[in-house]
Amino acid sequence: MSEIKTAISVKNIRKEFAVRKHFLTGRVQEKVVAVKSASFDVEEGKTLGIVGESGSGKSTIGEIAGGLQKQSFGKVYYYGKDTMAMSGDEYEQFRRSVQFIFQDPKGSMDPNYTVGDNIAFPLLTLKLSRSKEEANNLVSEMLMRVGLGAETGRKYPSEISGGQCQRAAIARALIVKPRVIICDEPVSALDISIQAQILNLLKKLQKELNISYIFISHDIGAVNYMSDSILVMSKGNIVEYGDAREVLLHPREAYTKNLIESAFLDRY
Ligand SMILES: Nc1ncnc2c1ncn2[C@@H]1O[C@H](COP(=O)(O)OP(=O)(O)OP(=O)(O)O)[C@@H](O)[C@H]1O
Ligand SMILES: [Mg+2]
Repeated sequence: MSEIKTAISVKNIRKEFAVRKHFLTGRVQEKVVAVKSASFDVEEGKTLGIVGESGSGKSTIGEIAGGLQKQSFGKVYYYGKDTMAMSGDEYEQFRRSVQFIFQDPKGSMDPNYTVGDNIAFPLLTLKLSRSKEEANNLVSEMLMRVGLGAETGRKYPSEISGGQCQRAAIARALIVKPRVIICDEPVSALDISIQAQILNLLKKLQKELNISYIFISHDIGAVNYMSDSILVMSKGNIVEYGDAREVLLHPREAYTKNLIESAFLDRY
């Protein structure tokens, strides 16, 4: 049996936002604690699901785990390396290796450029392609991988459906060869019939490329379908964390039981 590697390890993360500062001294007069103390691991090639009500801190911990936001306290380790102790090059590599997919794929694309150009941007800005031709070939390959035809690459974001646009956003994330993708409500804005297609695409890519996911959703059904382990958040605290089946079949906390029950009410 091969050894299980931990892609991302988060230790005792706390996140405070200053919401009011003194107009002269700049001293913080009021703060919001978005995450009180969170620790969790994302295993290589596996999915950690994060559920919880709106405002519970899901996006905040996802963004901290991927380096998009800085924690107030605590540590984030990427393949065992403390991200705060990394050299400039190492940190750049970390940021590139951890990509994000968000709820609103149209909002994340530049409407003035074709879908293909949007997917190629990271290659050109990070100078990962030697020529425009090489970039175009990679874009075609990625479009194929996510189930879009080459013609979709020539369209503008406004000319494709929400589901196609989320596929394009996945292609753009994949083009820099990430090892981790943080999916923040990736199907919440999509038609119910399209949601399963995108979830299955994410699963297929995980198998093919051994990518690790953090899968954030308020939809416990989607989290159940995707996750190997689950973390339940409430008001900035982790209230439950463990093997996905264990957490969902034998929830210890009343909060988790309520989430599961309301998921049934939602659907039926
Ligand atoms: N930039 C910010 N400044 C001040 N407070 C913030 C900021 N970002 C988030 N918060 C607060 O932190 C808490 C957690 O927010 P977060 O976006 O992580 O929640 P969430 O679980 O992702 O919610 P949702 O399901 O609505 O996306 C909320 O109370 C929110 O108001
Ligand atoms: Mg959120």
